[in-house]
Amino acid sequence: MKKKVTVVGAGNVGSSLAQMIAQDGSADVVLCDITEGIPQGKALDLSEACPLWGSSSSVIGANDYAPTADSDIIVVTAGLARKPGMSRDDLLQANAKVVSDVVTKTSKLSPKSIIITVTNPMDIMAQLSLKSSGFDSCRVVGMGGILDSARFRTFVAWELGVSPQDVEALVLGGHGDLMVPMPRFTTVKGVSLPLLLSAERIDALVRRTRSGGAEVVSLLKTGSAYYAPAAATYQMVRSIIYDEKRILPCAAYLNGEYGTRGVYTGVPVLLGGSGIEKIIELSLNEQEEKDFANSVEAVRSLVEQLKLS
Ligand code: LAC
Repeated sequence: MKKKVTVVGAGNVGSSLAQMIAQDGSADVVLCDITEGIPQGKALDLSEACPLWGSSSSVIGANDYAPTADSDIIVVTAGLARKPGMSRDDLLQANAKVVSDVVTKTSKLSPKSIIITVTNPMDIMAQLSLKSSGFDSCRVVGMGGILDSARFRTFVAWELGVSPQDVEALVLGGHGDLMVPMPRFTTVKGVSLPLLLSAERIDALVRRTRSGGAEVVSLLKTGSAYYAPAAATYQMVRSIIYDEKRILPCAAYLNGEYGTRGVYTGVPVLLGGSGIEKIIELSLNEQEEKDFANSVEAVRSLVEQLKLS
């Protein structure tokens, strides 16, 4: 039987993700949104594209959660997106209401599912999803690090004039302004970045990565990025559906790893059919540890505002 993926939020990220899943036929999709007609219209349109893509995915649109029952994966993209001048953290209160309602309802209908949280501020929304679902933390994971790493890969590739496919990059910490791009763990066909670029150039690429989301927001003016966020989420969905066991930077609940306890933040995880199957601990140098701790503290202070700890 095909796997079933529910995507809550039929905005740009949600519908782009639904397209990626339907296009490769890897799962059936239920697209949910509160706006009448939008999820149904997008689902119908996607269904009519399936014969052209050679896909046999079923795509259903709904304003309620009944059709989502027994999903394998619930992806939460619902909520407000940033406008120019806003940080991801400015969305805290408004999106917390949306995410807790969505997760409370969908997790009851799909008690064995794995939840992927995308809504910003993502790390805090992942922690809220953990609380609202009551799931084990290995089944609640946040999307941020893959996107930030993809941005870093892109900027490194442009700088060196090589294919982004040949660049591996790693960004740790919260998916916010204090995220921690890791040049030492960023490689071009196996060669570490500090051997290829000057410290000044690396710093410039790190800064651009940190404000990568805001750069897109300031160009679009009406919303935030969605192609790369959807592609990053799709990579997580695939790793779970096909039990690929990829090692991907995702927001995970830390329980002592990286000297951190009781908070979601971005670290490399092994993502497979059971969700987060392992948290990979890297050995950080003093500066990296300091930057990571700062980023975690920023997440923790928002978690405390929502009284989630
Ligand atoms: C970004 C938003 C989606 O980084 O968090 O573009």
